Order: sequence, then structure tokens, then C-alpha cells
Amino acid sequence: MSAFPVLHHHLLFLRPRLHVSLRPLSPRLLRRRLLFSAASAQCCSSSSSFSSTAPRDDIDEVAEPPGFPPPPESGRETQQLIDVNPPRGTRDFPPEDMRLRNWLFQQFREVSRILSFEEVDFPVLESEALFIRKAGEEITQQLYNFEDKGGRRVVLRPEITPSLARLVIKQGKSVSLPLKWFTIGQCWRYERMTRGRRREHYQWNMDMIGVPRVRAEAELVNAIVLLFERLGITSSDVGIRVSSRKVLQAVLQMYAIPECLFAEVCVIVDKLGKITKEEVEKELMSAGVTSEAVKGIVEVLSLASLDKLEAVLGADVEAIADLKKLFSLAEHYGYSQWITFDASVVRGLAYYTGIVFEAFDREGKLRAICGGGRYDQLLSTFGSDDIPACGFGFGDAVIVELLKEKGLLPDLGRQVDDIVFPLDEELEGQASMVASALRRKGHSVDLVEDKRLKWVFKHAERVNASRLILVGNSEWQRGMVRVKVLSTREEYETKIDELS
Ligand code: HAM
Repeated sequence: MSAFPVLHHHLLFLRPRLHVSLRPLSPRLLRRRLLFSAASAQCCSSSSSFSSTAPRDDIDEVAEPPGFPPPPESGRETQQLIDVNPPRGTRDFPPEDMRLRNWLFQQFREVSRILSFEEVDFPVLESEALFIRKAGEEITQQLYNFEDKGGRRVVLRPEITPSLARLVIKQGKSVSLPLKWFTIGQCWRYERMTRGRRREHYQWNMDMIGVPRVRAEAELVNAIVLLFERLGITSSDVGIRVSSRKVLQAVLQMYAIPECLFAEVCVIVDKLGKITKEEVEKELMSAGVTSEAVKGIVEVLSLASLDKLEAVLGADVEAIADLKKLFSLAEHYGYSQWITFDASVVRGLAYYTGIVFEAFDREGKLRAICGGGRYDQLLSTFGSDDIPACGFGFGDAVIVELLKEKGLLPDLGRQVDDIVFPLDEELEGQASMVASALRRKGHSVDLVEDKRLKWVFKHAERVNASRLILVGNSEWQRGMVRVKVLSTREEYETKIDELS
């Protein structure tokens, strides 16, 4: 995105905190070291999922980058090297990546506003207890957890839903339901990295608290579809698979499997496709599910249509009624081409109780783009009364991969209104006056000095400046500055106080 090639300086030469007198690096040695680090960068470059050109060292299948060789010995020198890559699986956001991130978050915010949701926020550091669940979910095994200096067990949150539930409980009866909240925040999971999966990611969450009807699911799917449409993604690129955990609940009831096994069974069943069917069956049986029930579960999860499901479970099962309602509302919203029934969607989090959904790329190249569902009983696991709740999480990484795949990444150049440049060193005060006046009017102004005019023109092009304002001696004497409009190449003089 930037006109400059990105510099990958992988080694930073730091002065150690030792009582040793240090010489600055000679220009020759410095050049040699930078050359060395640029060469290392070719094989060890850190990549961001936001960067469109980054090499793919974020994926575990790719070999770990080689370690850095020790620094060259050079007499009394004691500079130390640090690896300037961020921790594995995490990202820096240089300006071009930050522009993309801000743009994406702006789309998230805009869709949330359109659906009349309010923004909330929570700490990234949470109490560990909030995330301890016994159903054997992967997420609880991926916690960044530790003891703080006060001896408290804390985590860098892997997801936002428990924090949201905590705040709902904290606010108690003071809030009037339903709540429609959204948030965008960073989450941490010690994951095995694949394309679009990282150890930190940002998640856009939209949640509705206090809506027991399928209207909540329908609204949330509406938000997801709106977001895709704004990004230029169509229903032939992406689909949203929908099912309900009540399907599994009905199967368990059919086989008289105790209710207390429900969450654990869901978490195991969600592994279908990730581990073999035989391994899933084995895990189900060791959780206490009979082999007959295991067979029943596997059969039901492979049903391809709602009609077939109805034929097996009967029409009076809640799952069927809920799903039918959602599909009928989808017709009215005008997004039915985006959603399909897929009994195998269960989701890996223990707390879902009803409809669950996941968006996926139809080419099947990427992992889930977003996912969510109804979690009507999460609050009671924290000791509160239950309140119906439904929501989704939408990560920032997979969607960027998809936008790259589809050639839909926006061209987000830097944008500056004016560049102010004094043609003479003595005019630095006058240039400051001009820049300051324009900034007061709300213009973004880059005040440049100590450069050749040729560089300034190139710079203006690079930063997409609208105008170049040259402060020259003879013009200033006449109370004027020279303005060059960069898009039209029009050039004129104007009075300083008429500059707008
Ligand atoms: P989740 O399916 O674990 O659900 O995550 C939601 C989304 O976050 C995923 O579909 C993906 O876009 C993104 N995501 C998750 N893990 C990673 C990762 N390691 N790297 C990159 N992106 C990732 C939840 O977290 C639920 N709390 C969502 C929810 C909100 N349910 C109800 N309300």
C-alpha cells in the first residue's frame, strides 16, 4: 500500500544496561549489520494477517525461522541484539495495516449503528474463574493465564462473551431489557496457527440480551449479511450454516442420556471433521454416551435438510420450530440465499443452548469467518438468574484473508490535505504560522522542511496530498503564499489570510 518498500529490520542494536563504555557503531559496520538484517528478513519476516504482501511464517506448517547467528565479534563492542519481531502469533500494525484495521472496524461500527446497537468495552485482563468451564472445550486449554503480583489468577481473555455476561449481572435490575450491545476487542488464544488463526485477534461481537424469540438470531444474521455486503462479498462467496443445539438435546432425550452430559457431548461432537469419526465416537462413549446413542447422534448430524430432520425428530421438537421461524424471517429480511441448514454445525463452546450459526467461505479454503448462537443459560453458571441471550463473534483475521482472496482489499492510501513547505530556512516561522492557521480550520497539514523541492513533490504524491503550499520569500513580502493543487496541477498565489 505504501509507495515505499517495507523495511524489515529484524535486529535492533541496543546498548546494554552494563557499566561498559560504548562506542557508537561506525557507518561501515552499521551498514554491514543492516544488510545482514535485511537478508535475514527475507526468510524470517514477521507477517500480519492485515498485510497483503507478508510472507506466511504465521502458519505452523511452515518451518520455524532459523535462529539468528551471534553478532559479529568486534573488539570492545558489547551491543546486544533483540529479535524485533513481536511474539509469535501476534502482530504489529504499521501504518498501512493500521489503516486497514481502522477501516474494517469502521465497517463493524457502522453495521452495529445501523442495527441500533450500543458500544461497550471490557478489560482484556480478566479473572481466570470467568473462563473455567468443565466441558473440555479447546478454548479453556488455550488460555494465556497467570498469577498477578497480588497472587490472583488472571487471563488474557480468549473471548468476550463471559465478560459481557459478567457486566449484565453487575448491572442487575438497573438496566432495561433487551440490551443490544456490540464491542470490538482483542482476544488471546494459545492456538496452533493456520491461515487466519492467530494467538491474538480482534473480535467484533454483537449480543442481544433479554430476547427469547428467534428475532434475536434473525437480527444478528442480518448484521452479518449487511457487513458482508458492505465489504463487497456476495452470497456466492460466503454462506451461513445454521443449526440448533436443541437437535442434539432431542437426540439425547430419545436415548435417555442425562441432561448433565449435554455441554460435554456438544463439545465432543463439534470435533467431527477435525478428528476422525471413530475418535469422536470413542470420546462420546468414554463420556458416558451409549453406543446406540452415539450412532443416533452421528446419523442425525448428517441429515441434509430440515424436512429430513423433522421426519426423524417429529414436528413438535423446539429445534424444528426455531429453525423454521428463522428461515421464514430470513425470507422477509431478504437474506435467505445466505443461510443453509446444516445439522453438523454444533460449535465448540459449551454455553450454547439453541440456534447456532457459522459463516464460511464457499470455496472451503478458510476456517470459520464468524460464529455465534443462543446461550440462554450462561448467566446461571455464574450464579445469577438466567436471561435469554444470543450473539456472535466475528474475527478480524479470516475476513482479511478472504478479502485478499477475492481481490476486495480497499486501496487505503494515506491522506493529507496540505503540505506546507518553506522554500527558505529563514521562513520556518512563517511556514509554522500557515500550517497552524490551516490546522485550526481542521485541515490535516504535513509541515515539511529541510528537504529539496523535488523530494517534497514526490512526498506529496506518496501521501496523496491535495495541495502543496509553498512559503517563499518574495510572495511572503507581498502577504502571499503559492498554492499548487496536486490533482489538477493548477498553481496560483493567494493571500495568507484568504487561504482556506
Ligand atoms: P468463536 O467461534 O470462538 O466464538 O470465535 C468467533 C470468531 O472469532 C471466529 O469465527 C473467528 O472469526 C475469530 N477467531 C476465533 N479464534 C481466532 C484466532 N485464534 N485467530 C483469529 N480469529 C479467531 C466466540 O468467541 C464466541 N464468544 C462468540 C459469541 C459472541 N457467541 C455469542 N456471543
